[in-house]
Amino acid sequence: MSAILVQGYHSLKGELKIQGSKNAALPMMAAALLHKGTTVLRHVPRIQDVYCMMGILESMGCVCDLRDHVLTIDAGEVTDIRIPKEGGKAMRSSIVLLGALLGRCREAFVHYPGGCSIGSRPIDMHLEALSRLGAEIREEEGVLHALAPRLEGNHIHLPFPSVGATENVLLAAAAARGTTVLTGAAREPEVEELCRMLEAMGAGIRGLGTSRLEIRGTDNPGSVVRDVPGDRIVTGTCLSAVMACGGEAVLRRSSPGHLECVIGTMKKMGARIKVREDVLEIRMSGRPKAVSVETGPYPGFPTDLQSVFMVLMALSEGTGYLKETVFEARFATAKELHKMGAAIIIEGDEACITGRPGLRGAQVQARDLRGGAALAVAGLAAEGETRITDCHHIFRGYEDLCGDLQSLGAVIRREK
Ligand code: UD1
Repeated sequence: MSAILVQGYHSLKGELKIQGSKNAALPMMAAALLHKGTTVLRHVPRIQDVYCMMGILESMGCVCDLRDHVLTIDAGEVTDIRIPKEGGKAMRSSIVLLGALLGRCREAFVHYPGGCSIGSRPIDMHLEALSRLGAEIREEEGVLHALAPRLEGNHIHLPFPSVGATENVLLAAAAARGTTVLTGAAREPEVEELCRMLEAMGAGIRGLGTSRLEIRGTDNPGSVVRDVPGDRIVTGTCLSAVMACGGEAVLRRSSPGHLECVIGTMKKMGARIKVREDVLEIRMSGRPKAVSVETGPYPGFPTDLQSVFMVLMALSEGTGYLKETVFEARFATAKELHKMGAAIIIEGDEACITGRPGLRGAQVQARDLRGGAALAVAGLAAEGETRITDCHHIFRGYEDLCGDLQSLGAVIRREK
């Protein structure tokens, strides 16, 4: 039902403040469950996934209040330990509530999670890791029942640095007895942010930002007030919009320190980028140069920016390759870009993209959150009008993509 209309072919110029990070805010909201009282999170983005997480927390007995991007969560009483089916299916990241509930109540019920359709996205690593902390997990008619009367620290190794599994271990281990040593941990900045929050709540954490985390649990996680960092993926989307259209922009609260790999690639493609503390300035003229990019766990190139880079490469001078190593089915947006005239050939986990001088406006469908935002960027660089349908995917993670791009001078709006 929800659609976005874009009038393309304008260069961009402007300034904007980047929203708070979705992927940081969601596990921080889960961490609030550990404290038997009030937690305050600031700079929380007003996005569908945050509202969904608030709904789930409220169904468990928490009282949530989001005003002016300040979210207060009172988890004084947890009356229900079930993650409701709809919430769990709508948003995959609700799985981090499993670790938090085990930490708080030693028991939880959860349905298999949903979220974007970008691959099979199993949760085997989450379950295996939590069982190492003492949880017994059984499937009962499609619902997982986890029970851990004795939650105790242990050695855990993740065979792949899964962000969600790392967060689940952190949340449970922070409230477990003894010390957990987690190797093979994800190093994403959002994981580090969660570590800092859990530290402030009283857990002892060593190895922040590395793949070996040592977590000493606390039996009484305390009250905290935390700031959600700027969203590095929204920053990357806005930088890409300037690269696709040409022009210049100043982005504040943009987490440049978490975008080194992305900024390096953008510079190779011809962007001029300056960093001043949390402010990024970008200038771009002419078409991007073709590059080859391979996604990977942090500090590698983020899979969440793969689709928008596909757009940049579709406009570039020359031929480049994109290799997706994190989510196997994340090339669905290529099909939509074909409708706009892009030359993309997909073979397995690799896309070969031959740049064209321009794209043309078309009717396209958002297939997932980041792919949807990429289509908006493609629309901005295309001649004529682009209409993007199924934009509910975009609203899961972008507070006001149209408003943000309008402040850079783009002609884009939500269809009434
Ligand atoms: C998080 C991010 C998402 C990002 C992704 C990778 C949030 C809310 N979402 O998702 O935006 O794209 O990290 O940076 O933070 N896997 C398994 N078994 C498991 C767990 C994961 O096989 O038990 C696989 C997944 O299918 C995927 C890969 O591991 O192929 C990475 O997944 P993971 O890092 O867990 O991503 P999410 O935490 O779901």
